[in-house]
Amino acid sequence: MENKHLVKDIVHALDIDGGSTERRPVHTVGVGATGFFKPSPMAQRFCVAEHFLPKAAKKGVRVDIRFSNGMGVVEEHDGWSDVRGMAVRFYLENGQSTDLVSMTLPVFFAPTPETFLDFALNARPKPCQRATPWQKIKSYLQLQLPLPDPYPGQTERPNEGAIAFASKHVWAQPAVIDASSIGAPVSYVRATYHAVHTFIVTGKDGQRRWVRFSWAPIAGVLNTDPKKPPEDRYLKKDLEKRLSHGRTERFSLMMQIGEAGDDFNDSTRQWPPHRTRVMMGTLTLNKVREDQQEYFEKLSFNPWHLTDGIDPSDDPVLRIRKDVYAFSSNRRQGTPCPFSGTKG
Ligand code: HEM
Repeated sequence: MENKHLVKDIVHALDIDGGSTERRPVHTVGVGATGFFKPSPMAQRFCVAEHFLPKAAKKGVRVDIRFSNGMGVVEEHDGWSDVRGMAVRFYLENGQSTDLVSMTLPVFFAPTPETFLDFALNARPKPCQRATPWQKIKSYLQLQLPLPDPYPGQTERPNEGAIAFASKHVWAQPAVIDASSIGAPVSYVRATYHAVHTFIVTGKDGQRRWVRFSWAPIAGVLNTDPKKPPEDRYLKKDLEKRLSHGRTERFSLMMQIGEAGDDFNDSTRQWPPHRTRVMMGTLTLNKVREDQQEYFEKLSFNPWHLTDGIDPSDDPVLRIRKDVYAFSSNRRQGTPCPFSGTKG
């Protein structure tokens, strides 16, 4: 393990009231589904990883997908504004696999593990109150983000600390601003998910490219109406319904190609929107597994779990996640973190 103390401190900083050390400290509530991935005809030109080869297009690559609410609490507040997660494992030949872990923010909160620890300590939930209309007007006049109203029954939240932290640290602002107004999707399959870090892919001709991946929902992005009272516990039911009676839902895997001058090792910084995007394939979801507790709640994804053809960039946050996820998975007695076939 690279930096044992930092890894431990980070995981402890994520632990909050309402969470459990027997569950994931963030993205605690989730639902898992199965499906398959088929690469697009042009995918192998850009990446020779097994799941992008023509052979994979014929048969389809089996996948597990776990969607989650970003919060580290065991209660399901599906209707609350929150970042959502989508972790995908592709099952390759010869017992190998590879993961792609993504979330609904296009950027991360901090550029390094140390600054993330600082952020996580500051963004620990604090008591919250409804701001008066005058306080809201004052915020707008000072060009500050007005705090959203707490949800019914919500007494603490990370927003207060996160926003105060972001006002002192400019690199945290894009993610904090997005996160504070992100809302709730009508369905886990009506949101776009970003893997955020840069990865290096090798194409058929041996050319290496610095890229960022995201999943675009084919049904389109749609949030709930923020003026209506939030519902609890609808996201799992929604997915079960959408995938019942042989029905399916789909995502496109998009890959943005970086150019000279783009930041490859800092996931707080977005790349210009006009960078080339390539459609790398289609993910089809076909079933919500019944054994959620025994299977998906035990499963351990890891963003460092890669395969030949895809390498990690030097982003220090990506690097520490390798050990953080392994530590967390150990602590909650998840299935062992998969490091066979990984880099580094
Ligand atoms: C320093 C940065 C980060 C830290 C310390 C961190 C920490 C963690 C931890 C401890 C877990 C639980 C792991 C387990 O027990 O299996 C987790 C899960 C998760 N994280 Fe992160 N995370 C970081 C950045 C990110 C980023 C950048 C993304 C999105 C690109 C992300 C998306 C997720 C998702 C989707 C899950 C749930 C995975 C699942 O369903 O099992 N995290 N994170």
